[in-house]
Amino acid sequence: MSIQRTFSIIKPDATARNITGKVNAKIEAAGLRIIAQKRLLLSEKQAAGFYAVHKNRPFYSDLVKFMMSGPVVVQVLEGENAIAAYRKVMGATNPSEADSGTIRAEFALSIDANTVHGSDAVDTASDEIKFFFTEEELVG
Ligand code: CMP
Repeated sequence: MSIQRTFSIIKPDATARNITGKVNAKIEAAGLRIIAQKRLLLSEKQAAGFYAVHKNRPFYSDLVKFMMSGPVVVQVLEGENAIAAYRKVMGATNPSEADSGTIRAEFALSIDANTVHGSDAVDTASDEIKFFFTEEELVG
């Protein structure tokens, strides 16, 4: 077990429904601490750049458009095995496959409007945190 940091986005479907507090209640109940947070409207450059790893996938253009369709909340989470712990509380990418009690099972509307994003590995967590936050903004 180790203390890790991971990166989280609360997506536009959640800000539109005013449920960011409900999402974060689940994150905090899972033992994760929100050590940095900001609410942003992503530019096309930010949305396309953040998801560049998916640029050859058929869903890329819809994904970029969706992520620009309303405010998002970007966050850094810290805790024991934070990367796996957050992925567990998020549930599967497709909400129809998400375990009950997970964020996506309770709140997601579709595989596109799936309420949250979370890093999948140590390297991507580090890159994704740096994409949106400076070291000084990780306030604990
Ligand atoms: P996220 O974890 O933010 O990473 C990429 C996003 O692409 C994913 O959540 C989904 O919202 C979206 N997406 C749409 N279709 C697919 C798909 N077939 N496989 C994976 N992700 C998809």
